[in-house]
Amino acid sequence: MGKYANIAMAIALSTTSSMAQVKLKADNIEEVIKAMTLQEKAELLVGRSNNSAANSSNGLIGAHAELVPGAAGSSRSFERLGIPPTILTDGPAGVRINPTRENDTHTYYATGFPVGTSLACTWNTELVEEVGKAIGNEVLEYGCDVILAPGMNLHRSPLCGRNFEYYSEDPFLTGNIAAAYVNGVQSQGVGTSIKHFAGNSQEVNRLEVDEIISQRALRELYLKGFEICVRKSQPWTVMSSYNKLNGPYTQENGELLTTILRDEWGFKGVVMTDWTGQRNTAKQIAAGNDMMEPGEPSQVQEIIDKVKSGELSMDALDLCVRRTLQYIVKTPHFRNYKFSNRPDLKAHAAITRQSATEGMVLLKNDRQTLPLSDRQTVAVFGASSYDFIAGGSGSGDVNKAYTIDLMQGIKNAGLSVTEDLATIYTNYKTYQRALIDAEKDPNVWFWGTPKIPEMPLNRIAIAKQAEKADVALLTIGRQAGEGDDRYIDNDFNLTNVERQLLEDVCMAFHQLGKRVIVILNMGGAIETASWKNLPDAILMAWQPGQEGGNSVADVLLGKENPSGRLSMTFPLSAIDVPALKNYPHVGLDKADKNGRRNIDYTLHQEDLNVGYRYFNTKKVNVSYPFGYGLSYTTFSYTKPTVKATKDGFEAQITVTNTGNMAGKEVVQLYVTAPKGGLEKPTQELKAFAKTKKLKPNESQTLTLPVSAYDLASYNEATQSWETAQGKYILSFSSNVEENKASATYNQAKAQSIKCHDVMRLNRPLE
Ligand code: BGC
Repeated sequence: MGKYANIAMAIALSTTSSMAQVKLKADNIEEVIKAMTLQEKAELLVGRSNNSAANSSNGLIGAHAELVPGAAGSSRSFERLGIPPTILTDGPAGVRINPTRENDTHTYYATGFPVGTSLACTWNTELVEEVGKAIGNEVLEYGCDVILAPGMNLHRSPLCGRNFEYYSEDPFLTGNIAAAYVNGVQSQGVGTSIKHFAGNSQEVNRLEVDEIISQRALRELYLKGFEICVRKSQPWTVMSSYNKLNGPYTQENGELLTTILRDEWGFKGVVMTDWTGQRNTAKQIAAGNDMMEPGEPSQVQEIIDKVKSGELSMDALDLCVRRTLQYIVKTPHFRNYKFSNRPDLKAHAAITRQSATEGMVLLKNDRQTLPLSDRQTVAVFGASSYDFIAGGSGSGDVNKAYTIDLMQGIKNAGLSVTEDLATIYTNYKTYQRALIDAEKDPNVWFWGTPKIPEMPLNRIAIAKQAEKADVALLTIGRQAGEGDDRYIDNDFNLTNVERQLLEDVCMAFHQLGKRVIVILNMGGAIETASWKNLPDAILMAWQPGQEGGNSVADVLLGKENPSGRLSMTFPLSAIDVPALKNYPHVGLDKADKNGRRNIDYTLHQEDLNVGYRYFNTKKVNVSYPFGYGLSYTTFSYTKPTVKATKDGFEAQITVTNTGNMAGKEVVQLYVTAPKGGLEKPTQELKAFAKTKKLKPNESQTLTLPVSAYDLASYNEATQSWETAQGKYILSFSSNVEENKASATYNQAKAQSIKCHDVMRLNRPLE
């Protein structure tokens, strides 16, 4: 009785006080909350999705389309209370808005920056922060308040359709790259939304799948990157994912959104849903999910009804309202920022061109095939050379003004090409693009541009090219994205046409003593073991953004020395990846009493055996290890020094460029924990640092700090982070398999940090 009387009073109070005249200021949020009616509070938390689909570039419900057409969502405005609207735009590879507007000759193209994987492979947090600043500037100048980025789910499996948006199989690298991105974007006075929190490891049935993950794997892997990012950069917002996690939807899980995110990690911002539609809105609010995006009008009524019936407390509602207002007062819309709609796209094109080169990974370079000399004539093979893939598909696809393809990049660099071959491919591309458009089923959901299939070419045609050209380039492309995962056949593995083309080009060119270079243009890993012996050089270019062809040419010609290192393992074969025993499209998708396995629920049975934590610990051979990447120069490492600090240690190591070309090196610090206690992976990445561009003979001393907390593992028995006492072996490596220098660190005392016993398994993993 008492409970309901209180609620009735609160409702009455909030209605009466609606008469109060108060306008939002940075320091009067409590007053505004008191002045708001229940209706206004409910509306504030529910995005405004009442615009026509025609206004939206992605075909979804638009939001405040009259302000920024094509933006993904918004929060509502309340003139009475001086609360402006705020605009949310995708991400992550740049701002995603409509490039043109009705009755307007001005264009609104945004810069297509390198995808997440490419940024992570730079291992360069300063550079990622610079990219973040440029992206943040476009968010600001295009009248938006938050970019729905970075995407930071773990590469649990190489087949995840959205891996291109994400960073790595390693949470430490993920968290640090994400923090750099967030710090860069937010330095511009706009916000980020780190996503998708959490466990969104697959695209198949992503709205409903229940991801079953042990508490330890959650803490150490799937949540760790988010934790690092929150602690290091305090993003304005977090996006809760679509999926369920050990039972409830993440959007309705207070253990995740409040206990872990806020109470344990100290997150101060707003949580918004991924673009869900109506679920149990009251549960979402009670869990600490502040904003419902893109927002269904019926959710407003649902909130009002649930407050009136007492199912949702006014306190819980006010908490979300308070946090949303705290977010709003930080935004450019609140500051009444006069945006220009004219960001410096030229300057940003230069940033994307350079940053893409730093993420490229030189996988093979026999007999110094690269760099090329600009006096060579090149035969450019592969459909993707002419239809270069700047970024992945789905909401992560940016509406950019152009993409420089490889052919264009090669020509811009002043190389000669065999024009007859270029003509064949250009005509083929025109035909394929027209065909794709004509055959497109408007009911099939695919955002962006599918890749055109590879063009078969017979040996006679290839032999003629080998006669004319000095060297062959062959691009292999892949496109993937939101809504589906990749397949092993004809995707992770080469198609028959690609394999034949590669074999024939290599045979024809090698017969005449000429070299073949393969360019990989994709957002994630691919099978390489069966064919990597064929070409002379392999460059993983990723999906490098709109300047892609120029960026690749800069590396091929040695204008930039590749310094990217793999942020994921390239296995010998897809099925070597333990997660693929429980992954869509790979079998086992059968129904049992819990539903369809890998569709309704997915068991993370591999637990900590993700990426190098598995391959390295179990000594399973791989094609290219985590952290791998060649350079046009060589580096030596001195003996490291290790000094204890207040809460851990600081290592220093000096790196010298011992080759003939200026270049950058990445030092990766892997730690092996003392025996006894919890079983752990053999080595785990705990710090990394990249040198500046070192001239030949130049040296730089790098500092790598590690805290005792960084060394901890999660003990489910005690529900605490435990750092074991004893001797830790520190490996300073150029990749997880190539140790260049070692040292030890002695942790004098064990350390234990108690956590909450939350996010328990809802069904056994076995
Ligand atoms: C995606 C999000 C994206 C949102 C808005 C969702 O389908 O999962 O990453 O930010 O749409 O476009």
